Order: sequence, then structure tokens, then C-alpha cells
Amino acid sequence: MRKPFVAGNWKMNTDSHSSVSLAKDVAAGTSEIAGHKIDVAVIPPFVYIQSVAKVLSASSVAVGAQDIYTEKQGAFTGEISASMLRDIGCTYALCGHSERRHVIGEQDELINKKVSAAISGGLLPILCVGELLEERQSDKTGEVVTRQIKAGLAGLGAEKVSAVTVAYEPVWAIGTGLTATPQQAQEAHNLIRRLLGEMYDGQLAEEIRILYGGSVKPDSAAELMGQQDVDGLLVGGASLSADDFVAIVKGAV
Ligand code: 13P
Repeated sequence: MRKPFVAGNWKMNTDSHSSVSLAKDVAAGTSEIAGHKIDVAVIPPFVYIQSVAKVLSASSVAVGAQDIYTEKQGAFTGEISASMLRDIGCTYALCGHSERRHVIGEQDELINKKVSAAISGGLLPILCVGELLEERQSDKTGEVVTRQIKAGLAGLGAEKVSAVTVAYEPVWAIGTGLTATPQQAQEAHNLIRRLLGEMYDGQLAEEIRILYGGSVKPDSAAELMGQQDVDGLLVGGASLSADDFVAIVKGAV
């Protein structure tokens, strides 16, 4: 049985005050279920991770980073390593979020190094994949997601891959208010799980959690979670409201 997992990606939002109060409200609202019925994480901007981790230390809500760098330390101006993030209380790291792929220009090869660096540095990577609108419209969803998964996990053995969570986030559904239908999400998640079964083995594929992301709101959470291969949700905009995020977490149990 895969334990449900809901993470809130705050992207480049909040400030020193609102990040801490949002984290406190999420912890209070999910205290009865977080950790045992469902894994819950918030993913603040780098600069607020430490203060958010501090207020969440007595709770079962974990903290993640929105990105990491591939190297452990050294002359890499502006970059942040997995071990630094672990040092300040991070558990998870997003790798290859669509905004990093399509706004910043990250390619599969770099993302693969980040997934590997996260695991080596003691973080649990969340590998994000998903197709553009034109790729979906030209029936290329399977091809694109297959390429992103194969490239993102290249060179990693089953033992390392067991630390990975996959997030399927169709780019056309991110921040647009257009959610994939539960059937579209299930189809993509099932494709990913079957692919993992071919790349590794059936048991590993059954154990890996696959999250859906893209305009998830309190009223869409339960139906998405009702799909067999949807194990959790990666929430953007709605995670900036404690009420909405807590409602999504409760809807995902
Ligand atoms: P939205 O929920 O705002 O569409 O963002 C999804 C996302 O990118 C989460 O990582």
C-alpha cells in the first residue's frame, strides 16, 4: 500500500512573516493525520526553509526544496547543495519542475544529475515530468513522459530509485485553472508505473509514489486521489492558502 503524499510548492511566493504563519497553520490543520495517514510537505523558497523547518520541527509536516545543485560544495556561485538543505531540515527536493525546464531551460541530463545528487546528499527527490499543450495535442504525451523518466533516472539502480517520488504535472494544467481529468491523470500515471516496471521490476513500480500536479483545488483533490495510480498531489497556487491546502490534504486521505 502506498501512503498518500501531498506537497505544497510555494514557488517564488511568501515572505519571512507569511511563510512561517502559513507553515504553522498547515501544521495545526493537518496535525491529526500528517505522518501516519498521509505524508505532508511544504516546499518554501530557499531563504525561508530554515525558519519554516524550525516551526514545523514539532509537527509531522516535512519541508522540501524547490531545486538543488548537482555538486556537494565548491565554486558554484549562487547554487545550493543537497547536504546544505539537509543540514537546515529539508527532507525532499523537487528536481526538474516544469518551470525550471521551460522557464529556466533545464535539460534532462542536468535533472538526472540533480536526482542523483539529492539521493547522495540524503534528500528524497521528487522528479517532475509532464508534457506541453502542443505535445498533448499531437499525441506525444507518452513519448515525452517516457523520455523524461528514462533520462531523469538514467544510471540509477533500483535501490536509489526507491527513494524517488515522481510528480506528473502536465504543463498545460499548471497555473492555468485547467486540471487534467481524473482519467487523463490515471492514464499518464499508469503509463509511468508500467514504464518503471519495465525499467526496474514490478514490485518497485508498485511501491513508488506518483503525484499529480496542475491546478489542484480542494474540490478536485478527492476525485483525482480516487484513481488507482494517483498516490498524491503536488499543489501550487492552492498551497498558498492554509485553508485550501489543509482541505486538499484531508481530501487526499
Ligand atoms: P498549480 O497548482 O498552481 O497549477 O501549480 C502546480 C505546480 O506546478 C506544483 O508544482
